[in-house]
Amino acid sequence: MTYTLKVAERSDIHIGRTEELLPSLLPDGRIIVITDTNIDRYQHPLLKDREYIMIGTGESIKTLHTVEMIYRRFVELGIDRECFVLGIGGGIVTDITGFVASTYMRGLRFGFVSTTLLGQVDASVGGKNGVNLDGYKNMVGTFNQPQFVICDPTLLGTLPEREFRSGLAEIVKAGVIADRSLFERLENNSFEALLSDHKLLGEVILAAIKVKAEIVGRDERESGERRKLNLGHTFAHAIEKLSSRMNHGEAVAVGTILAARIALRLGVLATSDAERIERMLSSLGFSLTLPIELEQLVTAISKDKKSDGNALHFVLPTGIGSCEIRKMTIDQITQLCLAEKC
Ligand code: GLY
Repeated sequence: MTYTLKVAERSDIHIGRTEELLPSLLPDGRIIVITDTNIDRYQHPLLKDREYIMIGTGESIKTLHTVEMIYRRFVELGIDRECFVLGIGGGIVTDITGFVASTYMRGLRFGFVSTTLLGQVDASVGGKNGVNLDGYKNMVGTFNQPQFVICDPTLLGTLPEREFRSGLAEIVKAGVIADRSLFERLENNSFEALLSDHKLLGEVILAAIKVKAEIVGRDERESGERRKLNLGHTFAHAIEKLSSRMNHGEAVAVGTILAARIALRLGVLATSDAERIERMLSSLGFSLTLPIELEQLVTAISKDKKSDGNALHFVLPTGIGSCEIRKMTIDQITQLCLAEKC
C-alpha cells in the first residue's frame, strides 16, 4: 500500500516500498547518492549500481566539516547542476544532503529515501536542512524542500530498538500537538505491536507526517504555527548538547514531559492529560528523568537559536491534540521548572 501527500505544494512524501517508488521518482541523468556506513552495512541493496559518497554516523559528524568534505568530493567527481542528489539514510544524512544540495553551485535538485523512524516522521519532511555549530543543533541551514521523500516502513526492521523508540517520541509529539486520535491509537497499542505490525506502523507514520505536512503547508519558514513542532525541543536540544546519554527522541520525551508540567503549572493543561502524556511515554519505555542539572539546562536553553533576546516561543500542550505557543522569558521558564522540581 502506498500513500502520497504533498508538503508546501511542491514536495511529495511517499509512504511505501522504495523499490516500487524510487525508479519512477528519479529523473534521467546522473544521480549522486549521499549515504552512511549503516546503510552500507544493513541496507546495501539500496546502493547497488549507484554512485555514492559515504559519511560516518552520529550527531558529531553533522558539521560544516562534513559538508566541506562532500563539496570537495563533488568537485572531484565533476558533479554539476545537471545532477540529482539523493540522500539515503536517517535524519543526519538527509539534513546534510539537503544542505549540501541546496548550497553547492547555488543549488541542485534533491530527494531522500528516509530509513529511520525519526527521519520518516520528522527530519526528512518539511524542508529544514542543516548542520550543528559548536554543538548547538541545526544552527546553520536552509529551508528548501526535497522534490520527494520516500518513507519506507519495511526498512525499519533493521533499526535497533532504541533508535525505533526515538522516532516514536516524535510521533507522540505529533499526537499531543494536533492529533488526538493518533495519540489514542498509540495508547491502545504497545511498543511491541508498533514494532512488529507493519500496517499499524505505516498508518501511524502517515498520521504523524500528515500533522507535520499540514502545519508546514501553512507556515513553511517557521514564523508562527510551525513552532508547534518544537514541543519539547527547547529542552531536548539542551539535553542533547550537555548529555551524551540521550539520543534525540529520548531527549524529546523528557522535554515533552517538562513542557507538560509547565503547562500544568500555568493552568492550561488538565492534570489528567498531563498524566496521559507521562503514561504514554513511560509505556513506550522512555526514561523521563532529566539527565543533567536544572541550572545547566536553563543556561543552555538561553542559547537556543530559537530564543529571541531573553524570551522563547515556548510550546505548551493544552490538551491531547492541542497546544499553544507562548512567548516566555527564560526566567519564567526557570521559575516554573524549579516550582515543578523538573
Ligand atoms: N522538526 C521541527 C520542524 O521541522 O519544524
